[in-house]
Amino acid sequence: MAFGFVSGGLLLLCAVTCALRDSKNTLQQSSRLPQVPIVVECKAHALFISVDLPPSGSEPRFEAIDATGAYPVTESYGAQCGYTYSAHPLVGLVHLRASYFSCHTGNQNDEVFTFMFGLFIMYESGKELFFNVSKTCSVPPFPPRVVTCEENYMEVSVRTDLPSPTAGSIKEGFSAASAVAQSSAVEAWQVMLQQEGQQSEVMSAEDAATLGYFIMVTPGRLVFRTTFGQRHASVKMVNGVAVEVIQATVFFRQNWMVVMVDLVAACSLDEGTFDGYRLHWRTPAVMTPLVVGPSELRSEYIGMGVDGEVVDEQAATDRGYSVTIGEDTVDSSIPFAAEGGIRKSFVTGNVYNELYTVQLTYQQKLVDQNGVVTKHNAVRQMATPPIPRSPFSVNQTTLEERVFQVYLGNIPFDVELVSVELNGQEISVLTAAKMGYSITRVPEEENSFAYIIRVPFDDRLVVKQYLSAGSFEYTLDIKWTLNIRPQMEAYYHFSSVSALIADALPPVFDGMCTDNGISFMSDHQQYDYLWDIAIGSYTLTPQLASERGYILTNDSTTLILAVPLFTIGYVYEGITLKQFYGTFELLTRSAKTLEIEQSSAKRCLFQTTELLVCSTEGVMTVVTDITKAVPSADPARTTLLDRSCRPQETDETRVLFSFGLNTCGTRFHIDWQYVTYENEITFHELYSTDSRPVITRDAAYRMTIRCIYPVRGIESLFVDRKFRAETPGIGQIKDPVKVPPQMLKPMQPQKRTVMKPSFQGSAARKPADYARVGQWSEPLDKYAQWSLGPNGGF
Ligand SMILES: *[C@@H]1O[C@H](CO)[C@@H](O)[C@H](O)[C@H]1NC(C)=O
Ligand SMILES: *[C@@H]1O[C@H](CO)[C@@H](O)[C@H](O)[C@H]1NC(C)=O
Ligand SMILES: *[C@@H]1O[C@H](CO)[C@@H](O)[C@H](O)[C@H]1NC(C)=O
Repeated sequence: MAFGFVSGGLLLLCAVTCALRDSKNTLQQSSRLPQVPIVVECKAHALFISVDLPPSGSEPRFEAIDATGAYPVTESYGAQCGYTYSAHPLVGLVHLRASYFSCHTGNQNDEVFTFMFGLFIMYESGKELFFNVSKTCSVPPFPPRVVTCEENYMEVSVRTDLPSPTAGSIKEGFSAASAVAQSSAVEAWQVMLQQEGQQSEVMSAEDAATLGYFIMVTPGRLVFRTTFGQRHASVKMVNGVAVEVIQATVFFRQNWMVVMVDLVAACSLDEGTFDGYRLHWRTPAVMTPLVVGPSELRSEYIGMGVDGEVVDEQAATDRGYSVTIGEDTVDSSIPFAAEGGIRKSFVTGNVYNELYTVQLTYQQKLVDQNGVVTKHNAVRQMATPPIPRSPFSVNQTTLEERVFQVYLGNIPFDVELVSVELNGQEISVLTAAKMGYSITRVPEEENSFAYIIRVPFDDRLVVKQYLSAGSFEYTLDIKWTLNIRPQMEAYYHFSSVSALIADALPPVFDGMCTDNGISFMSDHQQYDYLWDIAIGSYTLTPQLASERGYILTNDSTTLILAVPLFTIGYVYEGITLKQFYGTFELLTRSAKTLEIEQSSAKRCLFQTTELLVCSTEGVMTVVTDITKAVPSADPARTTLLDRSCRPQETDETRVLFSFGLNTCGTRFHIDWQYVTYENEITFHELYSTDSRPVITRDAAYRMTIRCIYPVRGIESLFVDRKFRAETPGIGQIKDPVKVPPQMLKPMQPQKRTVMKPSFQGSAARKPADYARVGQWSEPLDKYAQWSLGPNGGF
């Protein structure tokens, strides 16, 4: 079914060498610069040339060349002379089809045809390049009649040795023509143009040519060609398809006879349609206007293909071409993107558009009752409108995974994702994997793809926002940059996804009072890393815990923090000789902003033994057992430096003083770093005789008590005499000394010679409480960084 004689195409990449490749295809160029791919092919009814438009070049033009000169192929000249030129800038192609009977084609016996063209391409630079395109085609004998429907003309050629029509088959019109022929045919050829229902017009072949009716004689054939829409043509509906028909009778003297030849051309005017999937073209099942006289035509073969060539059934099936032969019409159709056409994508207004164009080729063999064959050829350049293909994105995020997954679909086969912008930060696809972002390309359906990107919620580019108690929002805006290959035309798509995490609550601590402190406990939860645990402004770390004497136990399920009494961070209140309250506060801060989200404070009642508290409000509170150093000391008769300041409470061994730092004769000393407040508890020995205590005034003891505050943490110290410290002070108690030393008494064994600082403004004198306490000789600098939560103290 395919045409075996077609010599096949030759793609000529026009470099210097191409002229040497094939002796039949001589191609030379005036410059070596650009490479212009040119395809030149001999097809059933014409020569097909296609030229790839150079990107920077203008539309090329052709000149048909023969021995008499060069003739520019213009629109009207082409229609008259059998050249069809079409440019498709969108797909970057130019087509030229030249009929074998075109004006400037060498013809040997209607079998060998020689074409020569000049091709001119103007470049942006203003330089015009010239290429010689020539081709010789050997074609098997044409059937008696060939009717060709081109885009811009109709052509009919008939063999001139046709048997003369028998008398019985002469139709009316022919008789009329004979009559005219008798009288006017002398030397020159005459043409009679007949139009249904109109008076026939007779004119010389020359006059006909000026009207656009071209008649040519070849070694064995007579050729008639005309463009569409001529005055003598008519349009009729044939089986529901609009058909243009032109009928001419040429008559001339041959020897002693006047020969008349009927030339009828008829072409379907269907321009083709696109139904969304296929391009269709329709023509009548039998082109009845081609019937001359009372004869009949029947269709013997119908074939379709592309680019001037019919394909066999197998190839048609493979490519999805279909010819539906109905009673009235033949529908030839080609699916979108089928092999044989050109699929092209481009961007307009940030939208990917695709179109498909094809040179549909139709051939039909018609036979009349005498077995005379008519071949009907048609070529139709058809194209779909631009079909927009917008990408779409789908949010495939699952909260459990804590990863954003976004699907970008409807990506055509020739499009590639080059980069993504994640919340404004551009990342090329090439480096994405290295940076920990997964981007995959997956097939979607035929010829379509999708991209899937995965970005963990906790990625640094994801925006996280703490909305309110228990809800967190993660947001990711993605700008996708897509490029059409190979021209790398870019278009973009935007996606925005967000996720609300509802269970991201700060950890809750259970506080528990123990004999010697407070214990906090919290079970680990999924989003713990979103928070910091802090004491005051210090983040809880194993190091801080060990420095301050907290006991931190942190296993895979639970965190337990045991805070012994008198370690840094306690606030004391309601101190009596019997008991006092100690409060410890754990803060939960946002790990990102350090904003305090939650406080877990625990207040516990403790038994008072001994202590020294230096509050932020400037109150020193001391409970001490004076009988430890002086067993016979009398707690009831103790005073401070100011003798009128007496203990608030006493029992047999202990005293409780609580006084403002600006009262009771408190001395203060200031250096560049610390302010030290100092007072003394003065007491006397008590001698017992009988059952009544006797007081001697000779043996007096003084016990020094101090509160030390860092200078920079104290406000308005000397301005309004109102004391306010950022942190509680550090308390010190010095063992009592006897003043004046009138009586020599042995020192108590446990008497200490150095002063003991205590944490957090409190001191307890049990040795265990000092276990972690630095010695007085240690630089106080170390304590300067011990700070407490705000508003500690009374
Ligand atoms: C093109 O071919 C014609 C005929 O062979 C020749 O005369 C002419 O010089 C050629 N032009 C170029 C530029 O090669
Ligand atoms: C995306 O998916 C997540 C998880 O299913 C959902 O929470 C979120 O509301 C979705 N929508 C947007 C716009 O991100
Ligand atoms: C407790 O352990 C977890 C890991 O198991 C760790 O992420 C966390 O920071 C630890 N907490 C403290 C206060 O050390």
